[in-house]
Amino acid sequence: MAKSGGGFWKGVFWVVLVEVVVCVIAALVIQFGGFPMGADTHASKLEARLGEWTHDSWVKNHAPDVADPVAVNDQTLMEGAKLYQGNCAACHGGENYTKSPLGRGVYPGAPQFMRFVEFQKTHPNFKPRKMSAAQEQARDNHGFYVIKHGIRFTGMPAWKYNMTDTQIWEVVNFMHHMGHLPPDVAAAWKQMPLSPIAVPAAAPAMPAKAGKSGKK
Ligand code: HEC
Repeated sequence: MAKSGGGFWKGVFWVVLVEVVVCVIAALVIQFGGFPMGADTHASKLEARLGEWTHDSWVKNHAPDVADPVAVNDQTLMEGAKLYQGNCAACHGGENYTKSPLGRGVYPGAPQFMRFVEFQKTHPNFKPRKMSAAQEQARDNHGFYVIKHGIRFTGMPAWKYNMTDTQIWEVVNFMHHMGHLPPDVAAAWKQMPLSPIAVPAAAPAMPAKAGKSGKK
């Protein structure tokens, strides 16, 4: 009995020792600038996998499960186009702006949503995979959640400080119709500037806590 008890504590000792050594090595690597923090470096496969896993689980467990409250019509798509072109195109690409250098300059890079639109234009016979109503709703809810809250440790901002929920839904709907917009919305989108649009009066104010770092 006493012997096996001693073996147990020996095991604990070695596990703790190995952990301490690993932590010390990691701290030294960080302290001497060995961990690249530039946005022009690339994550290891392990880091990328961990990031994807954390992101997917977060969205899966927290995204709402609601029906899209905004009707899809010319007017709401036009609003979505303005919001997208003014706020998102700089990173994600827009009409007349298909490969965003800014989107490449953030790390991880911003997905270029116009690529799919261009593909659809050059492949008119391409039929996107049919989705069930439930799958479409889940896709829209995920989009809404990610746009509202942003993605930590990436260039993707939380848009809840700039947009109302209704506006976020308008952007979500617009993004899913980018490749097959009604002709008048498509034509208007082409003319829209990339500059940021004014913050709407109805947007929620920044939380008081946001100024915390100003105390320093
Ligand atoms: C400063 C650059 C930047 C701006 C501006 C920006 N995004 Fe992003 N966005 C990103 C980056 C970077 C990612 C990828 C993050 C990652 O890899 O997890 C991203 C990811 C996303 C995703 C998730 C895509 C996916 O495949 O899961 C959506 C949806 C999205 N953005 C929508 C928007 C919308 C809508 C706007 C405007 C209201 C916007 N973004 C503005 C940088 C930006």
